This record gives sequence, C-alpha cells and structure tokens, in this order.
Amino acid sequence: MTAAVEVEGLVKEFGDRRVVDGVDLTIPEGTVLGLLGPNGAGKTTTVRMLSTLIRPDGGRVRIGGYDLVKQATQVRRLIGLTGQYASVDEGISGRENLYMIARLLDFPRRRARERVDELLEQFDLVDAAARPAGKYSGGMRRRLDLAASMVGDPALLYLDEPTTGLDPRSRNNLWDAVRDLVEEGTTVLLTTQYMEEAEALADSIIVMDKGRVIASGTSGELRSRVGGQVLRIRTARREHLDELVRRLSGMRVRNFRVDQENRLVSVPIVNEAELTGMVQVLAASRLPIAGLDTHLPSLDEVFLTLTDQPRESDPDATVVLRRVF
Ligand SMILES: Nc1ncnc2c1ncn2[C@@H]1O[C@H](COP(=O)(O)OP(=O)(O)O)[C@@H](O)[C@H]1O
Ligand SMILES: [Mg+2]
Repeated sequence: MTAAVEVEGLVKEFGDRRVVDGVDLTIPEGTVLGLLGPNGAGKTTTVRMLSTLIRPDGGRVRIGGYDLVKQATQVRRLIGLTGQYASVDEGISGRENLYMIARLLDFPRRRARERVDELLEQFDLVDAAARPAGKYSGGMRRRLDLAASMVGDPALLYLDEPTTGLDPRSRNNLWDAVRDLVEEGTTVLLTTQYMEEAEALADSIIVMDKGRVIASGTSGELRSRVGGQVLRIRTARREHLDELVRRLSGMRVRNFRVDQENRLVSVPIVNEAELTGMVQVLAASRLPIAGLDTHLPSLDEVFLTLTDQPRESDPDATVVLRRVF
C-alpha cells in the first residue's frame, strides 16, 4: 500500500516550548488515522503543519510523495481542511460560501454551480442552502465546514475535532458523511478528544499527549495493552452472590471484583481456555445466574491507563486528563 502521509520526527516550537516533540506517523492511502489526545496535546499544531499553514521546526514529511516544505504547492492541491475554526463566512448563505470556494479553486461558473449542488445534496443542506451560515445549527454548520473542505475533491482530508460540541444525532450524521467520503477513497486524518469517535471512524489510532505520541495501534491493540476481557456474572439473588464468591475463592480465581449492589462479579479473563473453564465451573455449580457477559475495557479506560503515571515535570497531568475525558 502506498503511504499518503509519512511523518518522521515532526517538531514545532513556540518560543522555548516544544508543543510538537518528535511525532512519527503514517497514514496509508484510503485509510483513517485517529489522532487522539486531550486539549493542548498538540493536535491542531500538527494538522496546521501538515496543511502547510505553519512551518515545522524539524522532521520530515511526505504527502502523496511530495515534500511538505519544498513542494508545498503540490501538497496543497491534495488536501482539504476542516478546522475547529473553519473559514466559513457567516454573513452569506451556505450555497454562496461553497460557490465562493469553488470559484477560488478556479472552477468555471457552471461547473462551480454543479459542484455546489452536489455538495448541498451530499451533506443534506439543500433546504438550508439559501440561509445565512451564521443562522445554521451546530450540526448544519459542521456539515457546511465539511462540504467546504470537499469542494476541490481532495485526496486527503484533515478533520480537526469535527464533532466537539455536537449533540449525538448531529455527531452521527457527520460520522456517516465521513464514512461515505472514506468509502469513495478519501484518506483522512481525524483529531479528536473522544475515544468513541476514534474507534467509530479510525483504522488506526495514535494517542498524543504533551506533543508526543504515547501509544499507537488499532483500538483492539490499544485495549489489549490494558488487559483482556472481563467476564461479568450477575446472580439471581444476594445470597447466591455470597455463594459464588466463596466458590471462586475456593477455585483460586484471582483479582475478581464484587459489586454487591448490582449482584455482579467481574473476573478478568486472560485467554479463551480460561473463559471456557469458568463457564463450565459455573454450570456445574448450579447456582442460579441472572446474567452473563464478557466486556472489553473501553478506550477511556485504556487512555487513563496509558497516562495514569503523573510525570515529574507536571504533577497535574493526570488531573487534567481525568477532567477532559
Ligand atoms: N501560535 C501559538 N503560539 C504559542 N503557543 C501556541 C500556539 N498555538 C498553540 N500553542 C500552544 O501549543 C500547545 C498545543 O496546542 P494545540 O496544538 O492547539 O493542541 P490541541 O489541538 O491538541 O488542543 C498548547 O499549549 C497551545 O497553547
Ligand atoms: Mg486543537
């Protein structure tokens, strides 16, 4: 597979602060990379560098085979950017915004009108097309941002926290729109503070904190670093719970957690053989069971585990992360 984006040792300094500190990442063509991290991690700065808006202080970047700095013009032709602070003009209508961008991109008048109609249709903005963008709801505004970044049909799309502040329904609509673009072959770099969003859209995920990559992999791989599955057993009655706990202790099952209120026992499971063994023992015990399921740690749990050690340089780091997530 050809790499649409290859980044090695990317650095950005503001004054004496290194806000992007040696970031490596690769986005294969036609895939979505989720760049996940709390506020201030350096996500937007990374996207701005990869968009040619600001110049890196170090590192090497190739986009579609072009050098980011030496061949910036070619790079710009490949990318679309939907920012946290996108450049939509609030005083004119959605249609006028898109038309203006199409003309800026040198579309002839008629082709510009056609492209605008396509995009209004694609992003479900036909009814709102004539209204000033400033009057749009949050969800409509983000769809207009996305449409604006797609006018030139970019091969590579940057989405910088595209759903921050959106209600769940608008968020899902936007996710669907992004999935459609990916299906048509667009390569996407998505920044987000939401594990769920990275998991919903990204083929692979990079976790960034304080300018550095602290973990990477698929959501499954990130999860497995934290632990395997957890078997949850709910007993029918309180006294059954006590009996279950006695038997598990007798079986030398370790590290299980008991939730008295919900009559729930959670047992960490390392492999399938262990899971099978547990279920057989449960069946043989003939204890009445009200519920049984397996559960994977959420990405939020994963992130907290990955970042749980406060650093010498910043004892508040963990507190901040807990608040953000
Ligand atoms: N133009 C700038 N000048 C000085 N500091 C900046 C500038 N842009 C961003 N920063 C700082 O760099 C750090 C990373 O910011 P940013 O890339 O916006 O993070 P994120 O998008 O992950 O929230 C923050 O501490 C921010 O205050
Ligand atoms: Mg940002």
